[in-house]
Amino acid sequence: MKTNTNAISHYHNRTKHQSNAYAKAPEFLDWDEQPNPFRRFSGCETVELPLLKTELACLFSELDCPTHINAKPLTLENLGAMLELSFGLSAWKAFAPDRWALRCNPSSGNLHPTEVYLLCTDSNLLPSGVYHYVSHDHHLERRCEFAAADAPSELYVGLSSIHWREAWKYGERAFRYCQHDIGHALAALSYAAACLGWTVELCSEATDAQIAQWLGLNRADEFVKDEHETADLFCRIRTNQKTPVDFEANRLSEILQNAVWFGKAERLNGRHFYRWAIIDEVSQQAEKFTNSVERLQFPHFELPKPSHDLSASRLIRGRRSAQHFNGKSEPLPLADFYRILSALLPNAKPPFTAWNWSPQVHLFLFVHRVDGLESGLYFLPRDCEVVPELKTALSAEFIWQKMDAPFEFYQLAQEDFKQVARTLSCFQPIASDSTFSLGMLANFSANIESEAWRYRRLFWECGLLGQILYLEAEAAGVRGTGIGCFFDDEVHRMLGLKNERWQSLYHFTVGEPLDDKRIQTFTAYEHLVRF
Ligand SMILES: Cc1cc2nc3c(=O)[nH]c(=O)nc-3n(C[C@H](O)[C@H](O)[C@H](O)COP(=O)(O)O)c2cc1C
Repeated sequence: MKTNTNAISHYHNRTKHQSNAYAKAPEFLDWDEQPNPFRRFSGCETVELPLLKTELACLFSELDCPTHINAKPLTLENLGAMLELSFGLSAWKAFAPDRWALRCNPSSGNLHPTEVYLLCTDSNLLPSGVYHYVSHDHHLERRCEFAAADAPSELYVGLSSIHWREAWKYGERAFRYCQHDIGHALAALSYAAACLGWTVELCSEATDAQIAQWLGLNRADEFVKDEHETADLFCRIRTNQKTPVDFEANRLSEILQNAVWFGKAERLNGRHFYRWAIIDEVSQQAEKFTNSVERLQFPHFELPKPSHDLSASRLIRGRRSAQHFNGKSEPLPLADFYRILSALLPNAKPPFTAWNWSPQVHLFLFVHRVDGLESGLYFLPRDCEVVPELKTALSAEFIWQKMDAPFEFYQLAQEDFKQVARTLSCFQPIASDSTFSLGMLANFSANIESEAWRYRRLFWECGLLGQILYLEAEAAGVRGTGIGCFFDDEVHRMLGLKNERWQSLYHFTVGEPLDDKRIQTFTAYEHLVRF
């Protein structure tokens, strides 16, 4: 095995939770020392972005056919709408004496390791340069100015991670959560752009080093040591239906060569009490060097309408994680359940229009209460070709009963899995009190053996599916929650898996939420004077 494959496998195994030993994390947390969830650069000009005044007209179901949505012009107002709907604040919560912001994109522990940048060569929109988005203030910080550039007018979004922000709470397992969050963020951006009739093109040929150069992440002196950012994804925002010129990475690098940079990242946290060296190691081993152009396009298929079809912008801003579920709720109607599952299949709709690779992640589901389905364990292949292999890889006791569903869907076992789901998800009742919960099974060893950076890609794919589940749950009138805490190998044993060929990388749960009435909710941007 290659050295970096070994290193990835070592990290992955070492950061597995077990019911008698959780992955290494801080023994105590000083909440006064929590890293600031909002990065700011001092010494930069800022550009205020307009906030949405009303909901956008586009319905959530219209995002199923994105080519039918009229493209809005590229203006500061629409740019503000895209950023607000993807990474902006969605509410403030308070439970005295604490107050915290929620955003349109979710994040493990609400720590938000993902940072967002714009790279703009369209001087009709903004003076050309690189900008950092500050969700708290809904404004851009101008990090750099390009020397007069003879470049086509384009708008790009780059995503990076501050691993430290997540590791502060979750220790060694945090690298995985940062990758989940990137997947959620990419999907959030794809849905938000689609509301405006725009498309996100993932420029996956960009290497990490190129992205770091374009976003200024390699300017080590401008970041506090241990609070650096790691490059993840780079996308082009296509704001009209015209066929674009090919993305040219070298051209961008040339433009950046003569750029003038401004500002320094402010310190996030006073004390770095714990150090998690393995996160830097795995991050290095999983660096992406390949620059092959991949743009897999999925054929379009129609989805049934969701039962709670709202304005897409309202639904996106109303997305929340459920903290508790009503374990005695009415069963979820079968039509809603099937709509949710079909939205997870590759399709020419967001967020798959921003995804370049064939499905590597499939779902096993603990169905607790869905109308017309027996409680039990089920399997949803997102690519039916994997079924023969999984029939031999998974427990010989599974019945593989093909269901009468609008897509390939199997019952594996018929029994009450509530306690199993709860136990496997670190004893969290959200996995058993919901109407269904699930795990995401990734084609693991083949991917990390072929290219180590695909370790990150597998988590991104899981995050992408998680974001679909969050929004689809809202559109079904229920609510979802991502579950990063689960006992990896106990899940594998339950499934009958005996090696690393397949690994469960993310869990999720959906059901009728129970709100905690003690927690107060406030409007997202009431703290901004201009609102
Ligand atoms: C990758 C990931 C893992 C998560 N894991 C858990 C979990 O194990 N248990 C839980 O209660 N919530 C979990 N959450 C939900 C987050 O705590 C939630 O997204 C965050 O508090 C922000 O709240 P919001 O989703 O309502 O915006 C997870 C979310 C993500 C994105």
